[in-house]
Amino acid sequence: MRRRLPLLAAAVCLTLPNAAPREQHPGRGRVTRLHTALAQPPVLANMSRLAHTVEVSLTAAPGRLSLVPGTTSEVFAYNGRVPGPTLDVHEGDHVIVHFRNSLPEPTTVHWHGLHIPASADGSPLDPVMPGQQHDYVFDIAPGTAGTYWYHPHPDRRAGYQVAMGLFGAIIVRAEDDPLPASISEKLLILSDNRFRADGSADFPGLHSTQAEVDAENGREGNVLFVNGQLAPSVDIRAGEVQRWRIINASAARIYRLAIPGQELLELGHGPGFFAKPVWTREILLANSQRVELLVRGAGAPGSAVPLQTLPYDRYDPHTRPADWNETHELLSLRISAGAPASSVRIPATLRPVPALDTSHVAEHRVLVLTQGMINGKMMDLARVDFTARLHTTEIWEIENLVGMDHPFHLHGFRFQVLDRDGVPEPFPYWLDTVNVPPHSAVRIVVHFDDFPGKWMYHCHILDHEDMGMMGILQLQ
Ligand code: C2O
Ligand code: CU
Ligand code: CU
Repeated sequence: MRRRLPLLAAAVCLTLPNAAPREQHPGRGRVTRLHTALAQPPVLANMSRLAHTVEVSLTAAPGRLSLVPGTTSEVFAYNGRVPGPTLDVHEGDHVIVHFRNSLPEPTTVHWHGLHIPASADGSPLDPVMPGQQHDYVFDIAPGTAGTYWYHPHPDRRAGYQVAMGLFGAIIVRAEDDPLPASISEKLLILSDNRFRADGSADFPGLHSTQAEVDAENGREGNVLFVNGQLAPSVDIRAGEVQRWRIINASAARIYRLAIPGQELLELGHGPGFFAKPVWTREILLANSQRVELLVRGAGAPGSAVPLQTLPYDRYDPHTRPADWNETHELLSLRISAGAPASSVRIPATLRPVPALDTSHVAEHRVLVLTQGMINGKMMDLARVDFTARLHTTEIWEIENLVGMDHPFHLHGFRFQVLDRDGVPEPFPYWLDTVNVPPHSAVRIVVHFDDFPGKWMYHCHILDHEDMGMMGILQLQ
């Protein structure tokens, strides 16, 4: 993977102005700004009559759907749509998901970020075979309100199945949500994909140059979606505040989110809120991370501002795409006509996030990331890499020795960043994935309060994960 590779040809950019509609091709050329209104994925219907119980059905199946306007192609979909329906639950809920695998290959459903028993985690250790049904049963832990997502996690095939259309959102709500209920809420699932002319997902041939580039960078697509839509629009009244939950469901792309001329109020970056909201000009959202933020309608009625992703160099110089430094428009925020919204009061504090106690640390571990490996090893489902004890606290130092970012994810447990290259994190907050830039080290602290069993940790670039940049923690 260290070989020198030719730079990729310039790819489609969604921000190109004045592209004519007839130039719209899924795989090559320009994609127009369609600006259809942003749709929200439907919520999974709860068929339970019991209080605090959410019982839903989820099927993964092949189907024919339009991923790119003007084409239909073979996809994999949850309940017949891409992205899948949203699992919308409350803290304390008992959740039963009747899952059916109607795909022609094994799959799992992994509930990314949820603090649930290992048996319900949907890791590669527990595949659901084609034609089989499996019930995922878990309780939503108190204090974990936030935005999460679900995706397949079968051995070696997560990237393929996500690219074929399998991903969906999870929203965990709190009874005592600190934000006023009058604020309207939007879910934005960010994904990207690469297509053939017939609109089907384009995967490189074995041993092709593109396959090598994808293995190195992670498969990145030139077409960017929000909730499966191309450059949709969101209407907002002047002065109105909206609450956005944004999920990075991309296999490899890291987003650097900004709205020109607007400061964003970041409420949380991962599983749960910050103790206090933070003003910021831009938000770096690594693979599998989520962010909650407040945006404001600023400008004259009829005007629009884009939600952009700014250039971010996460690449090894040898495989850095030629268009890496382009800005892309993800959606258009349009100031609607009508009376300006009256102002809402944003609370100064959200939810307490006490710093994890590091006075009794049971284990300090070092995890060295190289290209495709952790501590010099590729994952073996039959091997346990670390053994940890329940009810203990550990500090993990994650060291990236190579020239590109690797977003590191631990299943089942949220953690806090202590420091990055020795620089203390400014305040404690929760994460389940932390991005580790080239030649840098991040120290995290995690407390194992519950749930014995085997837990995966891995790079969340799906190609890296599928190639085995993953390990297993046994908690006992
Ligand atoms: Cu989204 Cu193993 O994770
Ligand atoms: Cu996970
Ligand atoms: Cu990686």
